[in-house]
Amino acid sequence: MAICGTSRSHDEAALEFADCYHKESEVLGLGSFSVVKIFTEKSSGNECAVKIVKKAYLKPDEIRLLEQESNILSKLKHRNVVKFKDSFSNPQFYYLVMELLTGGGLYQYVTTKKRTSHCEENVVWYMRDILNGLHYCHGMNIIHRDLKPMNLCVAFDLGREVVKLIDFGVAVDTKGRSRYRHGIVGTLGYRAPEMINDEKYGTAVDLYGCGCVLYNLLIGCHPGSGEISLPSPHRGLISNPAVDLLAKLLNPYQDKRITAAQALNHSFCSLRERGALNKHLDIAVERLTEFTQKKMWKTAAAVGVITSVAMAPIVGAAMGTSLRLEPLSSSKKTVTFSNPTTRKSSDVRSRY
Ligand SMILES: Nc1ncnc2c1ncn2[C@@H]1O[C@H](COP(=O)(O)OP(=O)(O)O)[C@@H](O)[C@H]1O
Ligand SMILES: [Mg+2]
Repeated sequence: MAICGTSRSHDEAALEFADCYHKESEVLGLGSFSVVKIFTEKSSGNECAVKIVKKAYLKPDEIRLLEQESNILSKLKHRNVVKFKDSFSNPQFYYLVMELLTGGGLYQYVTTKKRTSHCEENVVWYMRDILNGLHYCHGMNIIHRDLKPMNLCVAFDLGREVVKLIDFGVAVDTKGRSRYRHGIVGTLGYRAPEMINDEKYGTAVDLYGCGCVLYNLLIGCHPGSGEISLPSPHRGLISNPAVDLLAKLLNPYQDKRITAAQALNHSFCSLRERGALNKHLDIAVERLTEFTQKKMWKTAAAVGVITSVAMAPIVGAAMGTSLRLEPLSSSKKTVTFSNPTTRKSSDVRSRY
């Protein structure tokens, strides 16, 4: 039974998922509670991405969130937001059918296709796409609440890559209600200080996540809480406009944080001012590669390529994976304010 159909007739909507789609073998990704696979629509022969969630793993209010995800996604129609196609639900499984984003995850794309040319000038295009998607969502009263690189995928439009927002699993629609929300959701490390501190928050939480993504793409690791710092090997590779935008996105005070519209006009993102550098960000690529390969390894383990813990290092080596993360250089240049965030011991939930 479709729970959130497109314009299909009632009879068509009654068709079970398996009657409409058949499976390809490829796993696109794993989420906290889901697996995303390629399927083919039988009627058109078109490939699509299907997020499959086993309901047995979820509590009743989490099942309600699944329905909320398809409701929200079906309202959003924008070049930088994954396109909703359909959703199905039966007592065991929930299926969310979306357009297939053939470039894969943003990190994967950066570390494979753009490996030799990753520089600030490319990052500007990714950021413009992410900010345009967020600006649209915020205009539609939607707060994503889980903005992070794993929830950004790449597609191609007229030969140019386009970054799209995916995973509206914890997004909220504030239309007709208060613009502010409570509650800790999203992913550890990408949550805005106001969410961690359990204060009321609004769309600015997504801009904080965007700041973390920008830091990830430029430096290859996480800004963490506290001071925003540029490790010494990156000095000279990162432009002043980039540092300024980072500080404005990661501003710990939500009312002072830059909005998506303002960030699009910032000198780093502005196509007129062209504040970005074209120096290759090789340290960032190296670190992101390690992260991506670790994630591929985890995916392989979860879908059964790796059957025992003892095999893990062997498979990791075969995939060219070093499972060791380089520590950051101890010599850091602090570029801005300190962050008042106080992490709570309860701050361990990863999604719901
Ligand atoms: N439409 C899509 N096209 C290609 N890959 C996708 C698509 N949707 C999701 N993925 C991949 O599947 C992973 C998990 O999907 P996501 O919606 O984030 O699940 P979860 O809500 O469980 O985190 C993503 O990180 C991404 O790699
Ligand atoms: Mg996700």
